[in-house]
Amino acid sequence: MTALDNLLKSYRNGTALSCVTAYDASIAKYLETQGVNIVLVGDSLGQVIKGDKSTHNVSFEEITYHAKCVTSGTKRTTVMVDLPKNTYNTKLTALKNSKKLINNNLADLIKIEVNSDNLDIVKYLIQKNIPICAHLGLLPQSVKNKSGFRKHGKTKKEANLIYNNAILCDEIGAKIILLECVEGALARKIANTCSCPVIGIGSGLGLDGQVAVIYDLLGISFNKITSLTKKNEKVINKVIQAFIKKT
Ligand code: KIV
Repeated sequence: MTALDNLLKSYRNGTALSCVTAYDASIAKYLETQGVNIVLVGDSLGQVIKGDKSTHNVSFEEITYHAKCVTSGTKRTTVMVDLPKNTYNTKLTALKNSKKLINNNLADLIKIEVNSDNLDIVKYLIQKNIPICAHLGLLPQSVKNKSGFRKHGKTKKEANLIYNNAILCDEIGAKIILLECVEGALARKIANTCSCPVIGIGSGLGLDGQVAVIYDLLGISFNKITSLTKKNEKVINKVIQAFIKKT
């Protein structure tokens, strides 16, 4: 059984799925020892590792490098890897890049940001046996300015679009759906309708699992302070202050 088969089996047996980002071997190994179900090599590395304002300048080579670091630290945990912006614009590029990650054991699952314009690419990858996580709702690779970082699915039109695209992704065989900043009731409706697991970040509770960026959990954030970061920063501050006092 592959790591992904095990993950989906646990989901069918009622496990709520935890997904946390990692960009290096030590954190990946630590997350595995803690029983995290999915380690995500996210293109959020653009912000938290490179210090950029967005995910837009992450290259395929950079995500591959971090996927190599992460997979050196894991043995049995499902590793999900983002295809960065502009690395899946055509069916053939999407397939070539997905295969590079899957065939070199650098990913069990490929995550791509899905909108109405690239559903044909998602379908093509699934037909070619690439295990896909469809990322819907807030799509950081398409956000042009700060106002894009908002809750999605509040208007009827936008809610219908997200809902229909999620249902389509489920029907064509996406292994997981990830909802980012989707209005809670809509996210729960999607989770209740889809047969595949629906996990969320900033999309409320009551889904099949939750996603977190490791730096938010640690209480450290580069340029986006989330409520999770604020809540957790006291813990890390205590650790660092205790170390400084000892020196
Ligand atoms: O890149 C990332 O870390 C992500 C999560 C925010 C879902 O896509």
